[in-house]
Amino acid sequence: MIDDLWYKNGVFYCLSVGTYMDANGDGIGDFKGLLRRLDYLHGLGVTAIWLMPFQPSPGKDDGYDISDYYGVDPRYGTLGDFVEFTHGCRQRGIRVIVDLVVNHTSDAHPWFRDARSSPDSQHRDWYVWADKRPASASKGMVFPGVQKSTWTHDKEAKAWFFHRFYDFQPDLNTSNPYVQAEILKIMGFWIQLGVSGFRMDAVPFVISTKGAKVTTPVEQYDMLRSLREFLQWRQGNAIILAEANVLPETDMEYFGKDGDRMHMMFNFHVNQNLFYAMASADSRPLAKALKATRPRPASAQWGLFLRNHDELDLGRLTKAQRAVVFKSFGPDKNMQLYDRGIRRRLAPMLGGDRRRLELAYSLMCTLPGTPVIRYGDEIGMGDNLDLPERNCARTPMQWSMEPQAGFTKGDKPCSPVIDEGPYGYEHINVAKQRRDPNSMLNWTERIIRMRKEVPEIGWGDFSVIATRDPAILAIRYDWRNNSVLFVHNLDEKPREASFSVGLAGDEGKHLINLLSEDHSEANNRGKHTLMLEAYGYRWYRVGGLDYLLKRSDIDGVNANHPE
Ligand code: NOJ
Ligand code: CA
Repeated sequence: MIDDLWYKNGVFYCLSVGTYMDANGDGIGDFKGLLRRLDYLHGLGVTAIWLMPFQPSPGKDDGYDISDYYGVDPRYGTLGDFVEFTHGCRQRGIRVIVDLVVNHTSDAHPWFRDARSSPDSQHRDWYVWADKRPASASKGMVFPGVQKSTWTHDKEAKAWFFHRFYDFQPDLNTSNPYVQAEILKIMGFWIQLGVSGFRMDAVPFVISTKGAKVTTPVEQYDMLRSLREFLQWRQGNAIILAEANVLPETDMEYFGKDGDRMHMMFNFHVNQNLFYAMASADSRPLAKALKATRPRPASAQWGLFLRNHDELDLGRLTKAQRAVVFKSFGPDKNMQLYDRGIRRRLAPMLGGDRRRLELAYSLMCTLPGTPVIRYGDEIGMGDNLDLPERNCARTPMQWSMEPQAGFTKGDKPCSPVIDEGPYGYEHINVAKQRRDPNSMLNWTERIIRMRKEVPEIGWGDFSVIATRDPAILAIRYDWRNNSVLFVHNLDEKPREASFSVGLAGDEGKHLINLLSEDHSEANNRGKHTLMLEAYGYRWYRVGGLDYLLKRSDIDGVNANHPE
């Protein structure tokens, strides 16, 4: 059954083991600690965990500089602990996906050490070299302002090597068949240890042509099919979630027109327009972004997120739009990063305003795709702008009011716990919020539960409903003889929204509110008029609560002609 595609209608949660829970008191989160927190995640209701890199690494890019693809960083535990963790997840029905970081290695990786040792070494061609400084060396940096070049001279190699990211992350020559074979072997290894797939790092760069003579890199999309094919041979229901911040025109190249490439991609295009919508109270560019990213194979899915561990990249907005988002959510230079983004956590960006946080979450849960929550956002954690670059939003999870937020028994956590101001752990922590039925945590738990009961969002076709008010975004989904409707008011002022549901006959007459008693009846011209409070949101079932009795088992059954 196509319903077996578990990622089409789940709730993902992303975390890094090092900052989640420290069981042995050395100040660094570990797999033993994470294992003990699985009941928390199970209670929250998430269906999959995206685990950030945990392999041995010098840790200069928070683990995205791997020095051994087949191991666990000893600070986090052992391979045995990792398997205990995947097993613990399986027992609770939670899937695990792990990062696949194969665009580059760490310069400490034995492959690179061998490669630089001699032009004749076995691994020389695993990396990308040039004898002279290529003319393009000052172009294409991913971290402008911090990273000076994409080519660096290596004394030992007596040659220049290519690095799309920091200079300690030499790019792998991903066109080399030996490198390609190794990538498959890495996937096969972790699949065997119980993971359900991969979040693939920097996909457009992985598949790009690379080299001193390459002036315009070209994506070799066929590579995506080989990865997919291999994965599916090994484990039929495993997935790849691609990190690819690309233009909508190329989305289908990544998904594959026959759904034969990436299962999922993060929707960066919607992400940026979503923040613009929240900053400007104008939903029109967001509606446009939703339509632009509509085409996708039936088996593919978008990952919908608000914030992640990187900066909020606004690089695809117009200059004027970006200025609006900066002004609202990151006005100080210190809050901005790489000339294109904001490095803050969600809660401080939205001024800690519970109404806005709920609006943001409600949008993330009801736009087309599968929501991906960043750890700590479920309790509204803050950031520490004294930490460099993206580290400000990677502080330890705040569990309780106990010392070090209950994250560690040690007194030197790997990254300082936020312990002052309104986001300090004494105010914001899991234990406190668990006891309060109205807390952000309990709200998030309830919204996750409801989201899982509305598969129409993950599976259905959507239509943006005209309301003639740019501050209002109304979306309807239709799937298997049922419809749901979501209305959001982006404005800081209350708004009256007036619209027709857009279904034939009497279908759209009753709207049953899923979150409160505030239902809506259409007038005799078929129009609904709602009064939405500032930043208000509504989740409705169209028709009634008999949707499970009405649901058809196959696609394409017309709402007016049930089976
Ligand atoms: C994208 C990751 O999300 C980011 O954190 C990392 O620095 C780069 N890729 C390089 O791996
Ligand atoms: Ca530890």
